[in-house]
Amino acid sequence: MTIVEACESKTNTTPEFPMGWYSVERSHQLAIGEVKPVKAFDRELVLYRTRSGRVALQDAFCPHLGAHLGHEGRVIGETVRCPFHGWQFNAEDGKCSSIPYCDDIPERARVRTWHTEEKNGEVYVWFHPENTPPQWQLPDLPELGDPAWTAPRYTEHLVPAHVQDICENSCDPVHFAYVHSQMEIPDSEVTIDPDGRTMHLHSDMKNNDYPSHLHATTYSPGFALVRTTYGPNAEMIMYNSPQPIDRNQTLMRWTLIVRREIEDLAGDDVMKGIIDGLGDDYPIWANKVHKHRPVFCREDKTLVTFRKWVRQFYITSQDKQEIA
Ligand code: FES
Ligand SMILES: [Fe+2]
Repeated sequence: MTIVEACESKTNTTPEFPMGWYSVERSHQLAIGEVKPVKAFDRELVLYRTRSGRVALQDAFCPHLGAHLGHEGRVIGETVRCPFHGWQFNAEDGKCSSIPYCDDIPERARVRTWHTEEKNGEVYVWFHPENTPPQWQLPDLPELGDPAWTAPRYTEHLVPAHVQDICENSCDPVHFAYVHSQMEIPDSEVTIDPDGRTMHLHSDMKNNDYPSHLHATTYSPGFALVRTTYGPNAEMIMYNSPQPIDRNQTLMRWTLIVRREIEDLAGDDVMKGIIDGLGDDYPIWANKVHKHRPVFCREDKTLVTFRKWVRQFYITSQDKQEIA
């Protein structure tokens, strides 16, 4: 007897979260003394900025009776205070530093602290399922703050897809023709740096109103920078620092800067183009499943490269088996 498998939409699973740097907030949206709940990597977290300006991202549930520190928690100096019974936890190491009605602090009174860094206007967390120290540094973005470039424009989008599938989109020149109304599939090449980790996509966009060269640098599945060059001093940079909320939802954070020479021409239009482009992708993402072992054709070279590249960011053998 042959049992017919259930429809894939009912049985499909997505991978874990790949290790790497992910944004959890824009720096300017976290003031001193501010406490926020954050959902990332299918975890409840608390994000706050202490009186000295230090950012902390910690597991949200108080070890005492489980209150959520991100809801009504309060910054007291270099700690966060639980709203339920006033226990305080250090921003630096998550240890309980004070119980207002008891001198004896239990050894296990501690919340997990995630490694964060502020750079390029964002608060980043180093995510590794075992909470190990960062294995590489965040890239510099010298154009941010350079007077030859505009101030950043921001846009955020909640996307119903796994972070890997969103990242994969950037190595998928064929979909430009079908989803994003490009006349033809752009000539593209994918290369990987000797470090094995930094991936580049070069595409020649010939059939736009303004022909351009697109260079996307993907530092890890959570960090991609796209540089589009129309000519000398006619350049723009977009970077996307997504926050994986859970296995099926990702908050994309886009930042756009353009050379001042082309701001009037390109600044607002490009931002609108990004938003429209995400709108094109949206119905695909909202309805697709994650394919663990896709069937690729001979011309899907960039996608095959992407799947081989992405394995290194997973630590469980099951997730590493992508297109094995
Ligand atoms: S639940 Fe946090 S102090 Fe009691
Ligand atoms: Fe797309």
